[in-house]
Amino acid sequence: MPSVLVFGATGFLGAPLIRAIVDAHPDWKVTAYTRGSQHPEELKHDLGVDRVEVGDFTEFEKIKALCKEHDIAVNAGNSFTDSPISAIVAGLRARPSESKGKLLHISGAGNFLDMGVTGAFNPESKVWDDESEDDIKLVNDKMFNGPSDVVALEAGRDGSVETYVVCTPVTYGGAAIRSKSIGIGYALITGNAKPLGYVPYVGDGSAVLSTAQLMDVVPFMLKVLELAASGPAQGSVYSRWYNVETQRVTWKELATELARVMYEKGIFESPEPKSVPLEEAGQGEVKYLVAGNMLMKTNRSAKMGFKATHPSILVQIHEDLRDVAL
Ligand SMILES: NC(=O)c1ccc[n+]([C@@H]2O[C@H](COP(=O)([O-])OP(=O)(O)OC[C@H]3O[C@@H](n4cnc5c(N)ncnc54)[C@H](OP(=O)(O)O)[C@@H]3O)[C@@H](O)[C@H]2O)c1
Repeated sequence: MPSVLVFGATGFLGAPLIRAIVDAHPDWKVTAYTRGSQHPEELKHDLGVDRVEVGDFTEFEKIKALCKEHDIAVNAGNSFTDSPISAIVAGLRARPSESKGKLLHISGAGNFLDMGVTGAFNPESKVWDDESEDDIKLVNDKMFNGPSDVVALEAGRDGSVETYVVCTPVTYGGAAIRSKSIGIGYALITGNAKPLGYVPYVGDGSAVLSTAQLMDVVPFMLKVLELAASGPAQGSVYSRWYNVETQRVTWKELATELARVMYEKGIFESPEPKSVPLEEAGQGEVKYLVAGNMLMKTNRSAKMGFKATHPSILVQIHEDLRDVAL
């Protein structure tokens, strides 16, 4: 039975994934890696894992040694920088060749933003297809999740690690499972709006954002993990990249619902979002998230059984953010 080490174990995606693993495979040995905001024994009990390891993503040697010990590592902790992925890959590469290390890396569809600046839907924008290995080969370190993804993909390409990637867009739906974290997607969008004093969209707000419901994503991550555990990886690493999506929404639709939420919570005085030029849509690269289009296809994941069955973010955002301090 495989041993599985999960980074981001207490997080929005990591915690429900662990619960799904433990439920489906009580015989797998699961280790949770955490900075330890919760007492390790309590967390062990909460998640139902065999072991808890306390540490930071910057502790290279510690992560490397742990990954060397485990059959499968899951990076559900950080996909924006090369930590902890470099240490994870170093540890998996150090495993004996007869039991090659396996990696499930969670990436983000921020990679696929068209960097549009008008806020309008662009029918000419590239639609990133998980069935096209040529598309996945274009993933590079200039993309949102690129610095982490290229390390994971390179280890799969050179054959030293059996890499699998699940690429999720803005993920929502935590209220249904009483998630402690709202997740990075919501955190980016609400954290961008708050200092502006309004919820922005750019131009006519017809630009589209891809979104996925947590409970559509988690069973699929488990499925990919089961595939990884079932035997040697097949095909090239670029054929082991899976996009997931529940629904595309326009920025105007999303901004309208988020503005209502922030008004009801007493954060903003107006329940209406605001159409602004790019420069007033937020800080740094987040403004391109607001102004651009995020377009992808999910044919490969659909063939693997991915099915979106949960309600839209436009409905769930109210419940998801109701009891959360923003
Ligand atoms: N949520 C989304 O919309 C979304 C979309 C696309 C991709 N992703 C990717 O999916 C992954 C998980 O995202 P999420 O939304 O689940 O994030 P999250 O809720 O913020 O969880 C992040 C987890 O990482 C741990 N962590 C953070 N910094 C750490 C550090 N320096 N050292 C050790 N542990 C650390 C945190 O645990 P402790 O504080 O307990 O240590 C937490 O459990 C990320 O790579 C993210 O980029 C998320």
